[in-house]
Amino acid sequence: MEQLLQQIDGYKKEIATYDEGDAETFRIRWLGTKGLVKTIMGEMKNVAPEQKKEAGQLLNEFKLFAEQRYEELKAVSANSKSIQPQAGQNSKPDLTLPGDPTPLGSRHPISLVKNQVVRIFQRLGFAVAEGPEIEDDWHNFTALNLPDNHPARDMQDTFYISQNPDWLLRTHTSNVQVREMEKGKLPVRIICPGRVYRNETISARAHCFFHQVEGLYIAENVSFADLKQTLYFFVQEMFGATVKIRFRPSYFPFTEPSAEMDISCLICNGEGCSVCKKTGWVEILGCGMVHPNVLDNCGIDSNKYTGFAFGMGIERITMLKYQIKDLRLFSENDQRFLKQFTSAV
Ligand code: DAH
Repeated sequence: MEQLLQQIDGYKKEIATYDEGDAETFRIRWLGTKGLVKTIMGEMKNVAPEQKKEAGQLLNEFKLFAEQRYEELKAVSANSKSIQPQAGQNSKPDLTLPGDPTPLGSRHPISLVKNQVVRIFQRLGFAVAEGPEIEDDWHNFTALNLPDNHPARDMQDTFYISQNPDWLLRTHTSNVQVREMEKGKLPVRIICPGRVYRNETISARAHCFFHQVEGLYIAENVSFADLKQTLYFFVQEMFGATVKIRFRPSYFPFTEPSAEMDISCLICNGEGCSVCKKTGWVEILGCGMVHPNVLDNCGIDSNKYTGFAFGMGIERITMLKYQIKDLRLFSENDQRFLKQFTSAV
């Protein structure tokens, strides 16, 4: 035992003398098939039976010590390799070598378009508001004039949360309207970007989650003319001065009157093509004057205040803007798709 201890002690001292770059020499002398660690392990057979346990522990500990030192030497030489001088060159590392390139990420097209939409409305005095994605029935439906069993609930296939039948994943960003109006601070002039969920089969034209931007303006004497002017400004800023708009009567339970807004097709300039299905127009949003029931539900006096609201799908706008034909591309994280948007606004 005494002899073994002394030997290990000497070995440890020797091991401490190795420097970075010596990893391979170290491995051969100590850890190779004919290395000293193997040899000293062989000493076990000369140890008296009653000391075998203690000797075994000592030897194992030494083996680990040597292996650990080897890992350290290897790590140091891997790190220093890139600036080590080549054999035969002068011995200083070459610090002028180019560095490893760091790949830069880029913004997702949905974020780019969302930010652009938000910035346009901010210039008109709209403030950004956000709300929860897990919502209760009141804020997503009932307060928005969709009482229980209202057929319009079928317009939006909903994911319910199994623990509580009152909870759901919001089907639209209109829940933020309700939450903002309930705060009771008037006038309200907000823009609410966010993610929404619907129980849809995933295809090129539908997905179970997507993004919307909701707008709401409530004050005294707000009229449909204000709505039209606001959206007209948005379209011109977003798509350019030559794009035309038109409103078509529509139905939403939370607005009266309600409309859908189309813009002249960006691809064919209104001539008719496959994107606009030969009509020259593409629908981009729903809007209308906030229904008096919604104002009352949120504690706002509907005799005194009026307002307009609108909601648009960000995916839809992005698809039009960049001529993207398949919704699934937005959530597949394919770098070849995503990196095309690096230099976009
Ligand atoms: N919430 C509607 C949807 O998800 C979009 C919408 C339409 C929002 C009209 C509005 C609105 O605020 O006035 O399809």
